[in-house]
Amino acid sequence: MIVIANNEGKSGIPTAARLLAAGAPGLDALEAGIELVEDDEEVCTVGRGGWPNLLGEVELDASAMHGTSLRTGAVGGLKGFRHPIRVARQVLERLPHELLIGAGAERFAAEIGAERIELLTERSRGAWQRWFEAEVSEEDRRRWPEVALERYCHDAVDPEIGKDTTVFLAQDAERHLVSGTSTSGWGWKYPGRLGDSPIIGAGSYADSRYGACACTGAGEMTIRAGTSRAVVLYMKMGMSVGRAVEEAINDMRALQGGLLNRVTIHAIDNRGNHRVVAVNGMEGNHYWLWTPGMDAPQAFPAEIVEITPQVTRKKGAMSVYTRPDGMPG
Ligand code: GLY
Repeated sequence: MIVIANNEGKSGIPTAARLLAAGAPGLDALEAGIELVEDDEEVCTVGRGGWPNLLGEVELDASAMHGTSLRTGAVGGLKGFRHPIRVARQVLERLPHELLIGAGAERFAAEIGAERIELLTERSRGAWQRWFEAEVSEEDRRRWPEVALERYCHDAVDPEIGKDTTVFLAQDAERHLVSGTSTSGWGWKYPGRLGDSPIIGAGSYADSRYGACACTGAGEMTIRAGTSRAVVLYMKMGMSVGRAVEEAINDMRALQGGLLNRVTIHAIDNRGNHRVVAVNGMEGNHYWLWTPGMDAPQAFPAEIVEITPQVTRKKGAMSVYTRPDGMPG
């Protein structure tokens, strides 16, 4: 048994670990852990309190994958619901589909009785309002929202440049590997932008025969490199979990243009080994790990690998927001 969560998973991993230790199915443990992160308003990239898009609306993405059946469930651009991970899990459990987006995802969430909630908090609404007043031209403010958003999506300084997420990976007592993700995505994103969290193969992948992987950070990069599926496939081809992550990082080195920023790759194999590497990461990047024999989940530093000398980062952006735990975003 093992469970790993990224830095943002702090509020959920003790519950996930407790459930796994009690013999719960991996997806039940992950869903319970991720729901706690979705409720944690200190985490500004997941659930309620997550940063909104350019229009000031919070759009949530989430996914779940069972590595034995290879069934997945994901939602993208879901507005107004408290637990996107629960809706994603029910896509997996109930539908003949793997991914629902926008209005269809909201319709399904209502159909299954998912709880509605106001996702904006005083902090996230205030941060968006300050951006709107400082960065949007007077003429555009008059015509808002009937304006071209393209330039704002290029120029907007996300309050938390990390473009984070929460990701959980686990192997349960019956040796099933599972993965789960949940995010509000990139703050100040173009409306409708999906990151990698709901894209199985990019933001997460699990195959009980080999291993599982999930990524945080700039989803644009892992979508282009197919990172999570690649890591698991490299394990299938015989690489150790550590070598598989290195090879997926090599794939990222080929990316040219577009958004090049930070990505953290979290991976486990089916024998309880793991590796976590922060690509273009910063000191302080860490993850949470629990295995039987540990009293409680513990934080460990992620390895840092620099592949892009100059990531796409507006000068001064890091100083806009400091996470409550003092860690970089
Ligand atoms: N990795 C989260 C996102 O890109 O939205």
